[in-house]
Amino acid sequence: MVSHGIEIKGLYKIFGPRGRDHIETVRKGISKSELIERHAHVLGLRDINLSIPAGSVTVVMGLSGSGKSTLIRHINRLIEPTSGEVIYDGVDICRMGDAALREFRRHKTAMVFQKFALLPHRTVSENIVYGLDIQGIPRSESMKKARHWIERVGLTGFEDNYPNQLSGGMQQRVGLARALTNDADILLMDEAFSALDPLIRVDMQSVLLEIQAELKKTIVFITHDLDEALRLGDKIAILRDGRIIQQGSGQEIVLRPADDYITAFVNEVNRGRVIQIGAIMSPLDGSLEALTLDSMTTLDNAAKRMIKAKQTKAQVNDTSGRAIGMIELQTVIAAMITPTRRELGSIAAE
Ligand SMILES: Nc1ncnc2c1ncn2[C@@H]1O[C@H](COP(=O)(O)OP(=O)(O)OP(=O)(O)O)[C@@H](O)[C@H]1O
Ligand SMILES: [Mg+2]
Repeated sequence: MVSHGIEIKGLYKIFGPRGRDHIETVRKGISKSELIERHAHVLGLRDINLSIPAGSVTVVMGLSGSGKSTLIRHINRLIEPTSGEVIYDGVDICRMGDAALREFRRHKTAMVFQKFALLPHRTVSENIVYGLDIQGIPRSESMKKARHWIERVGLTGFEDNYPNQLSGGMQQRVGLARALTNDADILLMDEAFSALDPLIRVDMQSVLLEIQAELKKTIVFITHDLDEALRLGDKIAILRDGRIIQQGSGQEIVLRPADDYITAFVNEVNRGRVIQIGAIMSPLDGSLEALTLDSMTTLDNAAKRMIKAKQTKAQVNDTSGRAIGMIELQTVIAAMITPTRRELGSIAAE
């Protein structure tokens, strides 16, 4: 299946009976709290421009109330926009007629929810084929698909159990298998792993990454956990008060947080696992062939390799094996230490 990206352009959502009347006021920059006080309307999203590339994971991150769910629900139009466009495969989802929208929702999108949303009186298999039942696909066919995904998400042996006989992690595996069985191009995951214990959560991230490496779906994943965002996101967009305040790769955000709000998130991160040596290398002066490292090596791994090889310097090669720079152990270790706010400011100014 050819995967398509999604382009969100100039999207506004103002909750309340006369949302449209307040667009101009919002464009002029009224704050969320002022809009509530003066006009009794709630600012959900403000001028969102986000390109969600096909076949990769885009993470939307932000604190509670920042507009994450509002944004993801525009993609399958569970929420009507006040203004703006959501383009998929050349068509604006916001302008689709009822039939086209139904078709789009059923065949192109699948959602995975935080609270699993499984049907209690259906077994694991029956929950997983639910979407296909609705499409009228015979059980002989749908169960075959279900069996495949049951195995892939690690639920073999639990096919005939009921949801209340499963742990939270297992229930979320059912949620994921159900979404995958639908064969949709777009997976919408709203805090899908947030209710799980930390270790189970990391397990589920691994399951998703393994499956994604093979399927290359267009995934929109919401979280308020930066570690999860960095692990899963090819691209990360950070929302605050309905506005995107930064978007880019995880590494770009960790190295150059756009403001204090993002700095506060970024300070909690294990930089050694996120930053790659390509981002901190210096120009190569001569050849250092005693130890060469790929530019995508993380700081953690680079330090380990250098210490093991008893080298204080290493050459950095690009993925095709061409020498492009060098690093020193001291610089690698310094880059692992969380800088203070002031230091980050001066890095950002560079
Ligand atoms: N139907 C609605 N009517 C009025 N206001 C709403 C409605 N839905 C959401 N909002 C408001 O829009 C803002 C964004 O809410 P949203 O649910 O998108 O946040 P979120 O980032 O998903 O938060 P959380 O992390 O708590 O799930 C909040 O201020 C919320 O109160
Ligand atoms: Mg939400």
